[in-house]
Amino acid sequence: MPERNTLTPAERAFVERQRVARLATADAAGQPHAVPVCFAYDGQRFYTPLDEKPKRGGWQGLQRIRNIQARPEASLLVDVYDDDWSRLGYVLARGPARLLPPESDGHATALRLLRDRYPQYRTMDLESRPVIALTPERVTSWGPALAETADTTGTDAGNAWLQPGRGLDFAPLARSRRSVRAFQDRPVPREALEAMLEAARWAPSPHGRQPWRFVVLTRAEPKQRLAEAMGDEWRRVLAMDGQASDVIQKRLDISRERIRTAPALILACLYLEGLDHYPDADRQRAEETMAVQSLGAAIQNMLLAAYAIGLDTGWMCAPLFCGDTVRAALDLDPMLIPHALIPVGYAARDPKRRPHRPLDELVVRFD
Ligand SMILES: Cc1cc2nc3c(=O)[nH]c(=O)nc-3n(C[C@H](O)[C@H](O)[C@H](O)COP(=O)(O)O)c2cc1C
Repeated sequence: MPERNTLTPAERAFVERQRVARLATADAAGQPHAVPVCFAYDGQRFYTPLDEKPKRGGWQGLQRIRNIQARPEASLLVDVYDDDWSRLGYVLARGPARLLPPESDGHATALRLLRDRYPQYRTMDLESRPVIALTPERVTSWGPALAETADTTGTDAGNAWLQPGRGLDFAPLARSRRSVRAFQDRPVPREALEAMLEAARWAPSPHGRQPWRFVVLTRAEPKQRLAEAMGDEWRRVLAMDGQASDVIQKRLDISRERIRTAPALILACLYLEGLDHYPDADRQRAEETMAVQSLGAAIQNMLLAAYAIGLDTGWMCAPLFCGDTVRAALDLDPMLIPHALIPVGYAARDPKRRPHRPLDELVVRFD
């Protein structure tokens, strides 16, 4: 096979699916050294950050740094092992590694790519440390795993964002997601929103009927219209509660701002037409409750999918209280019942985390 310095599409898809690579360097005397690293690839270079906190010597004391400074030749191995040997594979990239100093060309891009892949990095100060960049000069690969493709039955572009291994494993994903209420002024790629909607599609639902519909808003004008309409309705309700007008104004301003400045909004609606209908109120109520429960499951799928691919989300229940207003503002089908507004974007800052109850408070019986 001729030597290559770029990855084929299959190799690239394979490395994107993996979460960890091994970086091999050698010291001046040729003594080899390898460490597992988190990494990102931009089509030309592999990046890995310096996120450890060495006890002495700072990042400068790391063996890999001293090695790279002594001789830049390095290798990065991205591999998978599976007891089913029809699923093995690796990509090996060899080439010079160098340090991208803070604020140098490519440093910010490298951090963005790394933070997209690993949400844990979003709250770490990586700006003040260099990033290691390895430029492949020779790429080799092997294995049936490279031929594996993502399940594309969903057909839309969102599938690409949901490839296995693109995001986090489940436990850190579920634990790290949090409600975000302020976002950076940075648009959300359409494919990312499609990935969220694609994730919603796979939620459990009563009779498998998927009684949900979604409205996606990314343009300023409909967001503004929705914010204004909901604000007017909320003002009326808060005034009914007897709240002081300056308090009302402040709450309205915050809420309008949240809607207006969210890079994208997904309005999650119930759509009950496809459900069973019962003559008695009890069963009818239970049927509708099941639909609401499943909408919650679909929303959670979206929130986790978003977080897995580097996005943040919030949850606003306000549409539930002013369905007519929301339908009118967005010119929606009267059969849609607005339930939740999900702002989507990149967190402006790390939000406060609420404590979570220990399991022994939540589990009332475990025989
Ligand atoms: C049904 C529901 C409605 C919610 N409504 C709002 C809301 O209107 N405004 C808001 O800021 N957060 C809302 N939240 C988010 C909760 O406040 C948040 O999930 C909770 O405080 C736990 O924080 P975490 O999501 O960061 O774990 C809602 C959450 C749920 C499940």
